Amino acid sequence: LKSRLPVVAIDGPAGAGKSTVSRLVAQRLGLTYLDTGALYRAVTWAVLRSGVPLADAVGVAEVAASTPVELRWQPDLRVFVAGEDCTDIIRTPEVTQAVSQVAAQPAVRQVLLYIQRQYGQRGGIVVEGRDIGTTVFPTAELKIFLTASVQERAQRRWQELQQQGITGLDVAAIAQAIQKRDAQDSQRQVSPLRQAADAVVIDSDGLDVAGVVAQIVAVWQTRSQFQ
Ligand code: DC
Repeated sequence: LKSRLPVVAIDGPAGAGKSTVSRLVAQRLGLTYLDTGALYRAVTWAVLRSGVPLADAVGVAEVAASTPVELRWQPDLRVFVAGEDCTDIIRTPEVTQAVSQVAAQPAVRQVLLYIQRQYGQRGGIVVEGRDIGTTVFPTAELKIFLTASVQERAQRRWQELQQQGITGLDVAAIAQAIQKRDAQDSQRQVSPLRQAADAVVIDSDGLDVAGVVAQIVAVWQTRSQFQ
């Protein structure tokens, strides 16, 4: 007998389109959306604001343990650090650059593991991250590993930046930054980015968002028939 509603885990590297896809899949399936990267970004923001150096493992652990990080669905997902809405500021390049180093700290992952499981304990949720299918919710009913080539991810990111009026970065520089973050996320000691053995792999090269969402929903529907 299942004591919770289903969990859909969506993992993959940075820039594969996980956030947009996960949000839309949640909408289509009538589930809640949980962005776990936002939690790592929130702790990173708290660390930057505290002045504790990123390399100070003990200091970083203390900030993670003592700063209340909270998600609220209003109805869009918003992120609060010590009661303050930080939804926008956690997307700045400053935070993006620092987050891999903070996320590599075992003590940080321990604190956030607990929080993620609390948010997901009743299920009925699409959880997006790097280690959801492997570590956070290893019993998820559906696990998706969403990838795309570095080239494609860099191209998409470049287009996004263009639309935001941010020019001057070329695709090659963006590709290099993406590769660096991939390496950091995949090579860390604790809970690295890794494909779960039972994950369905979707390569989004040449697929648009709607195409990826349709594939995931189709897998979900096929599975549900047999459960
Ligand atoms: O998905 P994102 O770019 O917002 O994630 C930010 C960082 O957090 C990324 O460098 C990897 C890390 N992260 C993680 O280690 N584990 C997760 N479950 C989610 C994110």
